[in-house]
Parts: sequence; structure tokens; C-alpha cells
Amino acid sequence: MSAKKMVYLQPIPIRIWHWVNALGIVTLIISGAQIRFPEAITILGSYKTAIQVHNVAGLIVAVFLAWWLVYYKMVRNSLDDIYIPNEEDIKHGIVRQLLYYCFWYFVGRPSPFHAMPDSKFNPMQKAAYLVVMFMLVPLVVLTGILLMNVTPLRVLILMSGGIKIIDTLHFLVACSLFAFLFTHVYLATLGATPLAYFKPMIFGWEEVEDHDEEHHEEAHQEGEPQTGFRPVRHYPEHPAHPQA
Ligand code: HEM
Repeated sequence: MSAKKMVYLQPIPIRIWHWVNALGIVTLIISGAQIRFPEAITILGSYKTAIQVHNVAGLIVAVFLAWWLVYYKMVRNSLDDIYIPNEEDIKHGIVRQLLYYCFWYFVGRPSPFHAMPDSKFNPMQKAAYLVVMFMLVPLVVLTGILLMNVTPLRVLILMSGGIKIIDTLHFLVACSLFAFLFTHVYLATLGATPLAYFKPMIFGWEEVEDHDEEHHEEAHQEGEPQTGFRPVRHYPEHPAHPQA
């Protein structure tokens, strides 16, 4: 039998980054859709307003991407551990998590993964967030800045094949982010309750299973890798839920 305990999963700088970024990307998708299809979409009024909103939202997402990177890499030094899948994730974790999302979730089985502050993503989240945060967001920001067509960057536009190539790349990456957003929000509702994964992204704390101490020791002695599948560490206590 395992009890519940609270772990501090999402520090304030990451929560601020996440929600500013989410709002920024949604604004970019709406304004970008109007810029691309001005006859069909007029949600932000004039075409000029759509461009202004798009540029401001893009710069905010760019600044907060740097914030996210500086925080994880330089302040916490945990970017690689949190975001890069390890051997166990690649060999077994991804399949195990996929089976959970496709089958076990629907018959009421618990998730095979237990989040911890230094291993807070399940293997599928790691894989998805790796692509999104290391590829898609930086690429959409970079191509977006190039599309602003500022003089000192014109040489870069020419070097990368011209404005049409950059525009096409920007559009395709934006479509991928749009597709990610739907999957992301849907998967975020698959916790113990539909809002279980939203709470840590708002308040910082998540309620997790507290597996008994004996098991921790066993796993530790056997030298098992410290993945989210076997929590073996102690974390800060929630003020209202002290650990036993
Ligand atoms: C309305 C939009 C969004 C909602 C409701 C939402 C919701 C959530 C929730 C509940 C979590 C915590 C659970 C989890 O890790 O899955 C989360 C984490 C995350 N989301 Fe979102 N999200 C949104 C938009 C975005 C966008 C646009 C991006 C990136 C382009 C994004 C990237 C991430 C990343 C990387 C994490 C993990 C953050 C970390 O702990 O380092 N999200 N999101």
C-alpha cells in the first residue's frame, strides 16, 4: 500500500515561462492565421493590427525562450537530465508509456510513471518536449525574426536560400506547433483527475504516490537507474502536507 505525498515539481520561473509562452503561442497562431488567410480570418481587425500583434507576441516568446534556457541550464543546471531521454526511456519507457496512453488508461490502470523534481517527465513527454523546446520553438523564433527583414540580418536570409524558403519553413513549423498544442492539452488532462497535471503548473505542487521505504532501499541497493519509475529520493515538504 502506498500513501500520497506532495512534491514541489514546478518552480515559479518555469510556471511564469510556461503560461506566458502558452499565451504567446496561441496569440501567434491566431494572428498568424489572419496574416496567412486575410480574406477568411479577420478576428484581430485590420491586417496591420494582426502583423503588429504577431510581431509583439513573437518577441515575447523569443525573450521567454531565453528565460527558460537560462533558468534550466545556468540557474538549475538540470536541462539535460529533465529533457533528454535516457537509455531506459528509449529501450522500455516510451513503449510502456504509449501502452498506458492507448490502453491501460482506458481500463483504469495507474500511470507507470511517477513524477519527481529531477525526473518530472515521463519518457513520451521527454521525447515530445525535446523536439518542441529544442527544435520547433527555436526554429519558429529564428525564422520569425528573419521574416521581420531587418537590415543587419538580410545576409542570413540570402545564405539560407531566400525569403520564400524561410517563410515556408516558418509556416510548416508553426503548423507543427499547432498540432502539438492539441495533443499536449489532451494528454495534460490524463492525470488521476482531468486537472491533476494542471495544478502543479499553476501552484507548483503535485500529489504523488509515496512508495514504501523498503522498496526505495531495495532499488537503491540493486543499483537501478533513478528514473521516474522508481522514486528513491526525498523532496521538500508541502507546508500543508508534511511527509511522515
Ligand atoms: C493553452 C495552452 C497550454 C496548456 C493548457 C498547457 C498545459 C500544460 C500542463 C498542464 C503542463 C504540465 C503537465 C505536463 O508536463 O504535461 C504543461 C507542461 C509543459 N508545456 Fe504546456 N500547455 C499549453 C501550451 C504549451 C505550449 C504552446 C508549449 C510549447 C510550445 C508548451 C510546452 C510545455 C512544456 C515544455 C512543458 C513542461 C515544462 C517544464 O516542466 O519544464 N505548453 N503544459
